[in-house]
Amino acid sequence: MGNALPTPALRRQPRLLQRLLRDPSPVLDELRDELGPIYGLGAGPARMAVVGDPVALRELFAMPAESFRWKHKFNVLGFVVGPGSMIVSDGPDHTRRRKSVQTAFSRRRLNGWIPTIVERTDAAIEGVFADLPADGAQIDMYPIGRALVLDIVVRALFGPRMAPHTATIGELFERPQAYLESSFLAQLPHPFPYTRRARVAADRRALDAIIDAQIDDRRREPSGDPTDVLEALVIDGTLSDSEIRDQVATLIGAGYDTTAASLAWMLTLCARSPEVWKRLGDEADRVFGSAVDVDHVTLAALEFADRTMRETLRLHPAGVVSPREAATDVTVGGYSVPKGTLILWSAYLAGRDATAWTDPLEFRPDRFVEATAEQKSLADISWVPFGRGARNCIGFALAQMELTLIVARLAQRLSISATGPVPPPRGMVVNRPEGGAPMRVSARGETVR
Ligand code: HEM
Repeated sequence: MGNALPTPALRRQPRLLQRLLRDPSPVLDELRDELGPIYGLGAGPARMAVVGDPVALRELFAMPAESFRWKHKFNVLGFVVGPGSMIVSDGPDHTRRRKSVQTAFSRRRLNGWIPTIVERTDAAIEGVFADLPADGAQIDMYPIGRALVLDIVVRALFGPRMAPHTATIGELFERPQAYLESSFLAQLPHPFPYTRRARVAADRRALDAIIDAQIDDRRREPSGDPTDVLEALVIDGTLSDSEIRDQVATLIGAGYDTTAASLAWMLTLCARSPEVWKRLGDEADRVFGSAVDVDHVTLAALEFADRTMRETLRLHPAGVVSPREAATDVTVGGYSVPKGTLILWSAYLAGRDATAWTDPLEFRPDRFVEATAEQKSLADISWVPFGRGARNCIGFALAQMELTLIVARLAQRLSISATGPVPPPRGMVVNRPEGGAPMRVSARGETVR
């Protein structure tokens, strides 16, 4: 057994907990400076452990999944994504549900989405050009990026057949996403009609009806489209229709806001780093300009865009903290974490760890190639925006592929600039820049393919 976790004074805890559950980043910065990257908070059934030390995280991710529970008393996601979602499942149920989706997310299928990602980004860029304000005023790139990411996720999951429903799906996710960001108390279960919770449940029923119609469609008339995830799940036959519905709601829910917020951060940082933006544009000219087909080889050649994506997610992981409950007593980083503790592991703390990263608050994509071999191995365990191990993000390859291709294509065709300080992070479930991503945007003025 290890040592007891350090904790802040008891009288400060109610306020700290309230702040942590609303907007975690400032509290995490504050308590790291006071207590270090691992500490305890709360008491009794609301006992928590924050873990942000890279070496302790490596240990945590290597422990067997049975040491933890994702279906725990604080997991409010189930109400939105459904009780059969892999995200709120444990044991054999989790393994079966995750495996079916993982098979559907094969590398071949993923690579098949590359041309669509570039084509949809080009369509979004045309939309930006059509709506550019004549007076050169700033525009908010966050909603533009959100619409683009939703468009891509819906096409990736269902193929082009579903594209006409994209806007409706986006609307059905607005209320649930806002609901998940509301206070924990506001999310306590209750059966009352005409409330926000009742409207969120109605949105989910409307989404289910859309998915059900698509499942029926696939059974009646398979498209044979090798990139269609829903068709792969239906043909696979392992999951019931209700399980398929919950996984589809999960994939949209987990894949849409996270990627859109990361894109907003990437543009926010790049709009203040003209040199980074120029290099992205030059690389994109070279890579897209010499590509016969846009495919996985094109993606692999976008090395600077890949580093820019990684640097953004280091500083601003979409999940600042991710929860799991200790199902048994465990020891993490030399500290005892008793059974029943809610562990909030933090990609945000690891990404800013001063032992792992030189000048951790600086946005410097080249840090990944400048590091020595020793720094690189510490940096590797400190870069965990998608988690690691058996419960890591199932969409990590799709998200990275989208962010890299989108930023490269945008830099090839647009100039962006913003002044003033980088906005603070907002949001507990998904970390996004406060106030969106306002910036001045114009055409880059180069010929593109
Ligand atoms: C930049 C974008 C994204 C980030 C930063 C991100 C991050 C994460 C993190 C931190 C976890 C939890 C790991 C844990 O609890 O240990 C997770 C889980 C998950 N993510 Fe993502 N994610 C992103 C995009 C996506 C996309 C595009 C999809 C799918 C289309 C997706 C689907 C999922 C699912 C289904 C899980 C649950 C896996 C399980 O419980 O086995 N995510 N993600």
